[in-house]
Amino acid sequence: MALISWLSSGPRSTHTLSASRVGRIATGAAALVACALALGAAPAPAKPVAPDGAAAPRPASGTPILVGHYASLTGPEATFGQSTSEGIRLALKEINASGGIGGRPIELREYDTKGEPKEATLAVTRLVKSDNVVAVLGEVASGLSLAGAPVCQSAGVPMISPSSTNVRVTKVGDMIFRVCFIDPFQGSACAKFATNELKAKTAAILYDQKAPYSEGLAKEFKRAFKKLGGEIVSELTYTGGDGDFTTQLTSIRSRKPDVLFIPGYYTDVGNIALQVRKLGITCPMLGGDGWDSEKLAEVAGKAIEGSFYSNHYAPDQPDEQVRIFIEKYRADYKGKTPDGLAALGYDAAMILADSLKRAGSTDGKKLRDAIAATKDYKGVTGMITIDANRDAIKSAVIVEMKGTPLGPKYRSTISP
Ligand code: PHE
Repeated sequence: MALISWLSSGPRSTHTLSASRVGRIATGAAALVACALALGAAPAPAKPVAPDGAAAPRPASGTPILVGHYASLTGPEATFGQSTSEGIRLALKEINASGGIGGRPIELREYDTKGEPKEATLAVTRLVKSDNVVAVLGEVASGLSLAGAPVCQSAGVPMISPSSTNVRVTKVGDMIFRVCFIDPFQGSACAKFATNELKAKTAAILYDQKAPYSEGLAKEFKRAFKKLGGEIVSELTYTGGDGDFTTQLTSIRSRKPDVLFIPGYYTDVGNIALQVRKLGITCPMLGGDGWDSEKLAEVAGKAIEGSFYSNHYAPDQPDEQVRIFIEKYRADYKGKTPDGLAALGYDAAMILADSLKRAGSTDGKKLRDAIAATKDYKGVTGMITIDANRDAIKSAVIVEMKGTPLGPKYRSTISP
């Protein structure tokens, strides 16, 4: 935890808190530090950190900078939030161990959205209104980011979604960013893969009509696949949490598609895959990043073998930075292999820290400008430059579910 380090006796750089930020500094030594700081004075710029390569940096020991995270830590998309949280914590541990932001550690305040939009709005409201965080990380699912983003926007607190890919998310306003690619690109990456690698001429689509992510990605895939000369022979829907897909799948079976595109989240996709194979549909299934969870193989088992999805990173991708990240993550999380969410959580937290340093301030507008100026940041998930729409333009990888233990294996990279 970030708080531990700042009780140490090491030198502390002096920082000024804006009055609104002081409210949350609570107990014991924290209160003393807060009092010692000039209440009500203008925020002072953060001290620069030791340059890279300097002798052992001092752990951060100043007044913590509070950052929020809202995430599905429980519910049908629980691994999304858990993995993201782990990636963020790993990044913050590294940042704080090497001096934090001008000597101040970043402290994380995190709330569970349970995968529900109402909870997402509540969580973000608590973060920005009660906790007075300087920035918010989250959500994963686009529908939940769409529920949280307006709160950040109207409070003037920058939000960075590590992984929401629906176009509408960053359109909420100029405080809303993401460090991942968007679905028009992801949909066309999947369509290209289906056409060029799977040699598919026909496709069926089965999507979640209640999830903005699923609905948007279905639309983008359809557009791109048709443009490449393919034909959509069936387009049907389900609602997240449904248990029986027989009606849709029986109809899809009769159309004999070359590929079945399912842009859903892993719990539903796992259940669908089981029924796809049970009904004797043998074509490959293809999906987007929403498949990315160790639970997919757990739920679907053999039924998902030989199917593909697009993602932000693959653990077995040939890349030195990826290899180092996996090593550090495994050391912290009992040998677990990080998924794409963990990698994006890590990158999002690193970019936020980098922006805080460049802004030299926790002021919402200054921080927003610094995030917007992010350029050629070499993350675990690739090179990240924030464009004029506050999105990141990046490559996607295609992975295949195979091997023992069954899991995603790197297949190819698709560049924008
Ligand atoms: N892109 C998905 C969405 O917008 C979320 C997601 C990202 C899920 C990465 C898994 C991996 O809803």
